[in-house]
Amino acid sequence: MEAATALLRAAGLPADDLSVELLENFLVATSGTAIVGMIGLEPFQGIGLLRSLVVGPGTRGRGVGRLLVAGLEARARRLGLSELWLLTIDADPYFSRLGYRVQDRGRAPEAIRGTAEFSTLCPGDAVLMMKMV
Ligand SMILES: CC(C)(COP(=O)(O)OP(=O)(O)OC[C@H]1O[C@@H](n2cnc3c(N)ncnc32)[C@H](O)[C@@H]1OP(=O)(O)O)[C@@H](O)C(=O)NCCC(=O)NCCS
Repeated sequence: MEAATALLRAAGLPADDLSVELLENFLVATSGTAIVGMIGLEPFQGIGLLRSLVVGPGTRGRGVGRLLVAGLEARARRLGLSELWLLTIDADPYFSRLGYRVQDRGRAPEAIRGTAEFSTLCPGDAVLMMKMV
């Protein structure tokens, strides 16, 4: 939990609401015993919030982020989810390459609106995106 929090904070991503329960749906990429990347899923009825994607600066540009997103999409499908939603400050071009499309914030489903991430990130700062998985 400490390693996950440190990785997120170093990248400027929200970490205050992390809990052992929430981490059950997180995937991590490791190198030896070190966590070099992670991604999280908050599952709801039929849809999920993709959050907390981060790859350590020394490991970027090698496809780890893409693999983490693919792994999370597979997990979402296994859980019976059909849509993944996310909020990002500046990685929208990255997610756009992976098939996520920008959505009007007003179109966010109730469950996504209820997440800490949605209420914490200001509308002016964060882009809402969605992909059918
Ligand atoms: C975004 C991030 C997870 C990508 O991880 P990664 O393992 O380097 O990604 P990949 O190896 O799969 O992809 C690398 C490609 O994405 C591009 N890329 C990385 N971050 C980008 C961004 N914010 N916007 C657009 N493109 C980006 C790289 O330039 C590279 O492009 P190339 O393939 O043309 O060389 C990583 O840069 C990171 O942790 N950033 C800080 C945290 C963050 O912004 N997370 C997303 C918020 S939810």
